[in-house]
Amino acid sequence: IQDIPVIAIDGPSASGKGTVAQRVAAKLGFHYLDSGALYRLAALAAMRSGIELKDEHALSEVAAHLNVVFADAEIRLDNENVTDVIRSEECGNAASRVAAYPLVRAALLERQRAFCQIPGLVADGRDMGSVVFPAAILKVFLTATAETRAQRRYKQLMEKGMDANIATLLQDIRERDARDSNRSIAPLQLGAGTHLLDTTSLDINQAVDRVLCLYAEISAKGSI
Ligand code: CDP
Ligand code: CDP
Repeated sequence: IQDIPVIAIDGPSASGKGTVAQRVAAKLGFHYLDSGALYRLAALAAMRSGIELKDEHALSEVAAHLNVVFADAEIRLDNENVTDVIRSEECGNAASRVAAYPLVRAALLERQRAFCQIPGLVADGRDMGSVVFPAAILKVFLTATAETRAQRRYKQLMEKGMDANIATLLQDIRERDARDSNRSIAPLQLGAGTHLLDTTSLDINQAVDRVLCLYAEISAKGSI
């Protein structure tokens, strides 16, 4: 597992992690891990079972026993297609509460590491470079201003036909940024050796190219 290249892409909500990570993975023929989806799924499964979002032990049991399948572009929970359901801000906010509990994070750790398979992995989240894949060959911190991110999320939800309000989205994003960055376990932080990539004025293709360039530079050095 040590020799399998991992590209870790961490950053705040709606910075473009998922889109960029998926495209980089497709370009390199690597596997892709959407770690945030696991926290969203744990939150959704807990809410559906009537578990309180502050019952750490019960939440960790749900997280440990998630019956989830990542199939191509579809995510299935207990055999139901929840691909769009988990993208709501309600689910994102609940995920961020659930994700602050150490037992929940521990319950999801091995499931995330199992995605690291030949020929390589691109993983996105908050702690891919710091906790889950500390030996990642490339670590990127993707960000953009909160206003830009709220606008991107608004457009994305509208395109999916989902309800959204830009002022509420901006507030949610700010609250989630604060919670994810200030928690005591696995906070979202720009770690040493991590490349900062601000996409406020970059489109998706430019962001993808930057990551591919960084990876090409690192791979070239490694093969000398
Ligand atoms: O797409 P977006 O960035 O809005 O959210 P996400 O990546 O799907 O993650 C949802 C929530 O899960 C985040 O706000 C984090 O609190 C949590 N999360 C985490 O703690 N660690 C990860 N590796 C990924 C997500
Ligand atoms: O995974 P994360 O929450 O960080 O973001 P995402 O879901 O990949 O991206 C949020 C939205 O921003 C998507 O609709 C992307 O197409 C868009 N985006 C953009 O317009 N420009 C970028 N440089 C990156 C993402």
